[in-house]
Amino acid sequence: MPVLVIANSKGGTGRTTLAGEISVGLGFRRGGRVVLADLCREQTLRAWWAERSDPNPQMFDGSNAQALRQWLAGDAISDGSWVIVDTPSHDLAATAAAISLADFVLIPVGDTAFEMPPAIRTAAECVRLEKRFAFVFTRVGLSRETVSWLLQLVKHGPMLEAFIRNLSAYGRLDRPGLSVFDAGGDKEAREDMLQVVECVLDEFPDERRFARKGASIYDIQNFRRWAGRGALTS
Ligand SMILES: Nc1ncnc2c1ncn2[C@@H]1O[C@H](COP(=O)(O)OP(=O)(O)OP(=O)(O)O)[C@@H](O)[C@H]1O
Ligand SMILES: [Mg+2]
Repeated sequence: MPVLVIANSKGGTGRTTLAGEISVGLGFRRGGRVVLADLCREQTLRAWWAERSDPNPQMFDGSNAQALRQWLAGDAISDGSWVIVDTPSHDLAATAAAISLADFVLIPVGDTAFEMPPAIRTAAECVRLEKRFAFVFTRVGLSRETVSWLLQLVKHGPMLEAFIRNLSAYGRLDRPGLSVFDAGGDKEAREDMLQVVECVLDEFPDERRFARKGASIYDIQNFRRWAGRGALTS
């Protein structure tokens, strides 16, 4: 059961957005149960989730890494579920506790120079805890500065081969319960997120065999067939 932790010691980097969207996208792409865990004090992910009516993703009923560790150690969860963990910012101890549970860590990084030190610090925690990780470039605009920033960051760790554009559609997560994967969600935003989901699946080759047949990220027709009235279900 893969545990994917979304971490960055800097706030406002898009962790909660990424956690919520990936959870819906993974459920669509792979099927099967996805469980969210919100370890952030503000509990924004939980508030977003509480407005959704789908059975998937589910929400872990706790808000600290210790409780999550206990739950993961129990046998309730040897069932092929994925667990996606949102983490707090400005609390390196709490970030490290969450990272220690991870099979893979995604570090969302925006495209301004001051985002670099916290991202590198978070990557250093992954290295210290011997956890696989990748930076994922978020809120990407197209500028010369963006490209030079990207070239610098790859010296400090692997970069996911997918990125998330700066699109107002992601603000849907600010509105209770909505995801870009829901009916009416923005096509570009959905494509970006599905690329991220594909790259995450690449990190877990054993999980690939569960991926839905024909669920190509380029096949919007298929997508619509599964999209149904509201949100996607497994
Ligand atoms: N790719 C994107 N394009 C445009 N806006 C984005 C993108 N990703 C996130 N946002 C917006 O940026 C803001 C911060 O995102 P989010 O809450 O996901 O970050 P966070 O790291 O969880 O922040 P916090 O420190 O508050 O927990 C939100 O208003 C969100 O809608
Ligand atoms: Mg957040």
